[in-house]
Amino acid sequence: MAIPTPHIEAKKGDFADTVLMPGDPLRAKFIAETYLEDCKQINSVRGMLGYTGFYKGKKVSVMGSGMGQPSIGIYSYELFNFYDVKTIIRIGSCGSLDKDLHVKDLIIAMGACTNGNYASQYRLPGTFAPIADFDLVKRAVELCEEKGVNYKVGNILSSDTFYDDSNSTLDWAKMGVLGVEMESAALYCNAARAHKKALCICTVSDSLVNDEITTSEERRTSFTKMMEIALELA
Ligand code: HPA
Repeated sequence: MAIPTPHIEAKKGDFADTVLMPGDPLRAKFIAETYLEDCKQINSVRGMLGYTGFYKGKKVSVMGSGMGQPSIGIYSYELFNFYDVKTIIRIGSCGSLDKDLHVKDLIIAMGACTNGNYASQYRLPGTFAPIADFDLVKRAVELCEEKGVNYKVGNILSSDTFYDDSNSTLDWAKMGVLGVEMESAALYCNAARAHKKALCICTVSDSLVNDEITTSEERRTSFTKMMEIALELA
């Protein structure tokens, strides 16, 4: 497909090789304004703000993904396949399914399970296991160690429902799934299909297994750490 696409108005060459994707477009704006130099806005279609600038001299883009697998599915597909983006790093929030993971901790999503149907389009004779790029996982771990951040590496659940009538989300904890969010499985599928790289890092924003509430200040500082790790990775 030609660019611009139906959802992104950026021109060829506007995106860096690596795009950071928070769910919220206003968070993309915040990251761009806080961390990027010589920053320019390259997308505003449907309010899905995207920016390209420089972090420590390195060209980096940041754009919102929206919520859910269909939304990140569209944006990451267009970035990988039409804008020649090589790497997408999702920086999101998740609910903890693990008693040892508390609000503000990070999850490096090595794999992403899902209750959704995104991978059915590939017509595989079995179940595809969506995984992150190993080199990105390894470097993310090194950066967490360096920065003294609490983190775990493992599986997450990309759920198609935030409000789930069956209350089945907790069932995934028995398989050691660490947290629940709504996007990574589709992102990892798109990366695999396009032979590109992806990683999702999530800050724990709430816990489904411990009684915890974060203050907005706590949420802000843990997001800051995650953003800095993602920018270093880019
Ligand atoms: N469910 C799905 N996505 C989320 C959650 C949750 O509990 N918390 C943060 N993102």
